[in-house]
Amino acid sequence: MRGMHGLAQWQGATTCLAFAVAYDGAEITTAEGLADGKTLHPVQQAFLDQDGFQCGYCTPGQICSAVGMLVEAAAGQPSHVTAPASPADKSAEITLSDTEIRERMSGNLCRRGAYVNILAAVRHAAATSGGQP
Ligand code: FES
Repeated sequence: MRGMHGLAQWQGATTCLAFAVAYDGAEITTAEGLADGKTLHPVQQAFLDQDGFQCGYCTPGQICSAVGMLVEAAAGQPSHVTAPASPADKSAEITLSDTEIRERMSGNLCRRGAYVNILAAVRHAAATSGGQP
């Protein structure tokens, strides 16, 4: 479950732990809702192009988390592994290294262990979208 109203209002939610009534009136976007008609979202396409799944059980959550982490990184939100920016550097951009992607995607479990290709898919989506969600 993801509400997407632009970068400032993006908020991800772990749906299996979410109480549905708490989101009454919220705009919710699921993995399926990311596509524009028959055109896949760049992250969805990257998962296909990079074989970022095996059974597909975890894929909707992985895709939503990937989109969310791209939004957060584009907004300059640091993760636990983001190098501290110099106080003089007001425009510090976050480089989505493999370590940064792994940290931001942590908590998304894949029973099939497709992590190598999930990482490749997120890296590919970040590179082809210029880091924009
Ligand atoms: S692809 Fe099946 S659980 Fe991740």
